[in-house]
Amino acid sequence: MTAPIVRTRAELRAMTRSWRQAGETIGVVPTMGALHDGHLSLVARAKEMSTRVIVTIFVNPKQFNNPDDLANYPRTEHEDARKLARFAVDAIYVPDGAQMYPDGFATNVSVAGLTDVLCGAHRAGHFDGVATVVSKLFLQTSADFAFFGEKDFQQLQVVRRMARDLDIPVEVVGCPTIREIDGLAMSSRNLLLSDQARARAATLHEVMEETAEKLGQGALITDLRAVAEARLKAAGFGEIDYLEMRTHDTLALIEAAREPARLFAAVWMAGVRLIDNIEVPEAR
Ligand code: PAF
Repeated sequence: MTAPIVRTRAELRAMTRSWRQAGETIGVVPTMGALHDGHLSLVARAKEMSTRVIVTIFVNPKQFNNPDDLANYPRTEHEDARKLARFAVDAIYVPDGAQMYPDGFATNVSVAGLTDVLCGAHRAGHFDGVATVVSKLFLQTSADFAFFGEKDFQQLQVVRRMARDLDIPVEVVGCPTIREIDGLAMSSRNLLLSDQARARAATLHEVMEETAEKLGQGALITDLRAVAEARLKAAGFGEIDYLEMRTHDTLALIEAAREPARLFAAVWMAGVRLIDNIEVPEAR
């Protein structure tokens, strides 16, 4: 059975209020739709941890810094609802722009520091857009738990910081990246790749795995970057926005993996920007 589609804040509030009165717990999975198995793994986790689950679908204009990217973003509401049917979620919240940003909307949520690096340095305003919409979704759904994929690891850390700083009583749960058989991290953007570009894109994960393994053996990222970048270029990648190792919690740039660290990459393939990150084994 498909879940009820809720389009207004008022309807959503009436639902969540009755759940709260009945002592239920609420889990939210914020998405921009075009659902794939990565999203569905978040829904499955939400079902395990909460008695009621809301999936939100809103293509948030405030987090796009490129109008073409916003226009081309896949919108597949009907198909998304169909994919969610087997999870028996309690509501699919699909607000429109006027529900989220009514006339006169003037507030911006901005998380300093964590957003200066990686995607924040390449996509002006992106994380302000994410922090603003996610704080609204937390408040609108009054969720106890919220589920985010580690695929967008920087986003996960930004959202955690925002919820802590604003005293929003939600537990942010990070869930492992789900990959295609060839290793490519699942992403709604993969739909924008031609078959040929899609096949080549798998090299990103291969190169990241090889690099992370060497970092775990004590190599320095500066000594590995040239080879990794050459492998990516040879596979057909264009611009490399970044290939960096950073600490797990604070996203500080590091050269050697002597503390919990992750390797992060953002690269362009045939006009599509792909991001990925993996854990680096700690070097002894
Ligand atoms: O990861 C996403 O799909 C979006 O950034 C999110 C968290 C739904 C906010 O719009």
